[in-house]
Amino acid sequence: MAVDILLGLQWGDEGKGKIVDFIAPKYHVVARFQGGPNAGHTLEFDGIKHVLHQIPSGIFHENITNIIGNGVVLDPLIFRKEIDGLSKFNINFSKNLFISKKAQIIIPTHRLLDVAMEKAKGEGKIGSTLKGIGPAYQDKVARQGLRVGDILNPNFKERYYKLVSNHKSILEFLNFSFDSDLGGIKDFEKYNFEFAAIESDFFKAIEFLKTFNLVDSEYMINDAIANKKLILAEGAQGSLLDIDFGSYPFVTSSNTMTAGACTGLGIAPRNIGKVFGIFKAYCTRVGSGPFPSELLDADGETLRKQGNEFGSTTGRPRRCGWIDLPALKYAIMLNGVTNLLMMKADVLNEFDEIKICTHYKLSNGSLVDRLPYDIVEEKIEPLLKSVPGWNCSLAGISDATKLPTQLKSYIEYLEAELQVPITLVSVGPDRVETILRETAITI
Ligand code: GDP
Ligand code: IMO
Ligand code: MG
Repeated sequence: MAVDILLGLQWGDEGKGKIVDFIAPKYHVVARFQGGPNAGHTLEFDGIKHVLHQIPSGIFHENITNIIGNGVVLDPLIFRKEIDGLSKFNINFSKNLFISKKAQIIIPTHRLLDVAMEKAKGEGKIGSTLKGIGPAYQDKVARQGLRVGDILNPNFKERYYKLVSNHKSILEFLNFSFDSDLGGIKDFEKYNFEFAAIESDFFKAIEFLKTFNLVDSEYMINDAIANKKLILAEGAQGSLLDIDFGSYPFVTSSNTMTAGACTGLGIAPRNIGKVFGIFKAYCTRVGSGPFPSELLDADGETLRKQGNEFGSTTGRPRRCGWIDLPALKYAIMLNGVTNLLMMKADVLNEFDEIKICTHYKLSNGSLVDRLPYDIVEEKIEPLLKSVPGWNCSLAGISDATKLPTQLKSYIEYLEAELQVPITLVSVGPDRVETILRETAITI
């Protein structure tokens, strides 16, 4: 099979960027299939730490083709900033980066709409990253979005202004005030609340985007498959933020799962090979919405501190909790996960005791290991099982057999429950702090 997929099984930020970068040398192509600048994928190697938002995490490898697929929503302003941030790495973008003409464009008013819609929701706000993701996907589905290929058309500006005028009437309806409501979008502050200045930079960013390879990426990918090239599809967000199966409405606006890679890149299901499901040894969530195993106590604080759990895109503190087996089983089922990759085991180093949510107790007293339909309204009590911690540093361990016994038992317990092998354990943010397990033939 030509296409493997790596995706998050929780609420995002599982460490996808680190592992895509780690396994990328096995592939010829790395492709993003959904999401956009709401993603923040961190890579660390050779003393460098870099956060990617829209550019695939294979970009630091010289011989890998990176593709931004049709399922992505692309912000040209943020794209330009990302490329500028990468300038010191001598990357040959004309050789290594390709953008689907069918990817949707995020325009500045999408971001204003994101702010206005969140404000209108009041208490029930999603806690969006305010990158315009929801409004851009809304326009895609409403069949009025602008696509990357459209920027090459002489009538692009005309179409842009038509969409902006439509957005402005919604903003007016929502009582959006440019002066008082813009505080949430930090990188817009430099414009001193002048829309004309944002728009002028946006058009410059469009001209910049035109200098890149804008392609029919579905043909490119299928040609690569026909030529026996190996492709890795890089997920963004996580399965529990999926628009169909996540904790709706507290989700993102795309299909974050295996099926999303098919539509977001133009890959037939029969070409899918391995599905790498990546999860933290505990759980985190940014933004609002249900989180059954959330810890609001000192243990939660310890996880946040040890795990440096602050958003890579927004800097917001992440909510922390114990690992959640019903949620993981659900994500494994929906994605067809073949390999599990466990991240951030080192964050649990200091705990004498580690807890695992094995079941949910529902308000009617029943004990289940399946997600209830109304996960938002249902009062879920997590049923926790306690296991001993390892209470030591994992620094310097590169051989899975040398891991502390308690950590091995934790891994084996999870494997038995989840019925999928854990073939990789990550014990630090750096590329080298990655351990392949002996059970793994290849990851
Ligand atoms: P992504 O969105 O899934 O790519 O994940 P993020 O980059 O948003 O968040 C993961 C964070 O954990 C980043 O700061 C990584 O550098 C860091 N990280 C990744 N793996 C490990 C690990 O095994 N241990 C520790 N302590 N940090 C890790
Ligand atoms: P990566 O790829 C964690 C969350 C937001 C919010 C909800 C909707 O780095 O794992 P959106 O801006 O998409 O409309 O926000 O989804 N969210 C993420 N949480 N990691 C991400 O991406 C996320 N992308 C969106 O916090 O709750
Ligand atoms: Mg992230």
